[in-house]
Amino acid sequence: MTERVLVLDFGAQYAQLIARRVRELGVYAEIMPAAASYEDIMAKEPAAIILSGGPDSVYRPGAPKLDERLLTSGVPQLGICYGMQYLAHALGGRVDPGTPEYGPAQVRRTGVDDPLMAGLPERMQVWMSHGDRVESLPDGFSLLFASDGAPCAAMGDPLRRIYAVQFHPEVVHTEHGMDILRNFLYAVASLEGGWDMGSFVEREVPRIQAEVGDGQALVALSGGVDSAVAAAIVHRALGDRLTAVFVDHGFLRAGEAEEVERSFTERVPLRFIHVRAQERFLKGLEGVVDPEEKRKRIGNLFIRVFEEEAQKLGPIDFLVQGTLYPDVIESGPGQAAVIKSHHNVGGLPKDLRFRLLEPLRELFKDEVRQLGRELGLPPSLVERQPFPGPGLAIRMVGEVQPERLELLRRADLVVRREVESAEIAKDLWQWFAVLPGVRTVGVMGDHRTYGEAVVVRAVTSDDGMTADWAKLDPQLLQRIASAIVSEVPGVNRVLYDITSKPPGTIEWE
Ligand code: XMP
Repeated sequence: MTERVLVLDFGAQYAQLIARRVRELGVYAEIMPAAASYEDIMAKEPAAIILSGGPDSVYRPGAPKLDERLLTSGVPQLGICYGMQYLAHALGGRVDPGTPEYGPAQVRRTGVDDPLMAGLPERMQVWMSHGDRVESLPDGFSLLFASDGAPCAAMGDPLRRIYAVQFHPEVVHTEHGMDILRNFLYAVASLEGGWDMGSFVEREVPRIQAEVGDGQALVALSGGVDSAVAAAIVHRALGDRLTAVFVDHGFLRAGEAEEVERSFTERVPLRFIHVRAQERFLKGLEGVVDPEEKRKRIGNLFIRVFEEEAQKLGPIDFLVQGTLYPDVIESGPGQAAVIKSHHNVGGLPKDLRFRLLEPLRELFKDEVRQLGRELGLPPSLVERQPFPGPGLAIRMVGEVQPERLELLRRADLVVRREVESAEIAKDLWQWFAVLPGVRTVGVMGDHRTYGEAVVVRAVTSDDGMTADWAKLDPQLLQRIASAIVSEVPGVNRVLYDITSKPPGTIEWE
């Protein structure tokens, strides 16, 4: 049986990141709410449990707790941040408000030797983000690390195999964070590891088969990596009971519809329906300038089109979507703030008639690419830059109109061509053009012009959750700018967006 680590979520920003780090270390991990019952948690037969951080204080009435039977269950446990404070408090230690620490901090070893500390240096820089801190340890625990702001920065009880760290080993700013997690998994919990994306396929395929039974499914192909990979894994599970519907909403990039159909159907032999719905989407967006409204209308229209196609095909119960973890978190599940409604999550109508199948919901983009390769999709599909479901409609500020789409499509083609021919695409997360809806005065030849400005955006990122603007070579920027102005009629100015995320987002809307 596959070893499984459960990340019990106390409301952390980083719960998925913890799960992903564990998977990177070769052990399958998934998230459950910390409030889940003992029976539900133990039914998953966890080989180890990690308690996430969370915004609360253990002393606040109603602060999240575990079912305390877990503490004596014998399952190895690692508490992180709030998870540590919870363990300390629940097992009889003392937690006090203390001085908050946010950001980098130095921790030092206390001289205690423990499997969790194998190979770690005397001092290291870690990432802290806490208000309360542990002041005295519960019985049976040794102090493993201390820092100025947190006299008890890490503690462990090797007999009960319960460990805790005040800092965040899952973030890249913590030196040796991966070593700590690795030590916990392999030295403390004695796991065997060996999990990889191949195992994900082996586990997910029977799960999808069980969920769908002898039903039929439709997959919403958007042209992006995510929906293609979701389709490929569901196709592996259901074979010809899966039909792909590719809706051309008219907001695709130049040449995209044909390219997607060709490269996808070559590898995944399934029924492929190409719906040409350009007119309908344009009409549905008439007069709309608000970004959220655009997203919602596009999301709704998408679903309506699928429903109509599904009706033509006969009884279909499931809709497959390539929703990824960052889509879920930014659309505000539970208590996280809504940043924007990703069309495939927050944009869904309330009266959806399908049941959703979202096999990638717990994965990050690079994991999805790995999965796509595992499933045999071609590099031209798997390595594509991410492209938002609502397409060019959310890359033009203001109303979506056919002429504006054409202009943006041409400018985008220039950006893609120049970046690709400079052979730097592999270093970038996304590179594209935006139409900000601003007109400015220029001069071309001996004539005054009053034309559109185009914004070029290129970013680097690991997972789309945060991003930095790409420091493109000025000569490349100049080539892009001249090519846009000379090849795209109506444009007389080119700007380069140097905003990172945060405070910006990658897309403009
Ligand atoms: P933002 O703009 O939120 O984008 O920084 C993060 C990543 O998500 C992509 N994106 C979307 N993908 N449907 C999608 O499938 C959407 O509605 C959507 N909105 C943004 C964006 O291109 C970037 O890679």
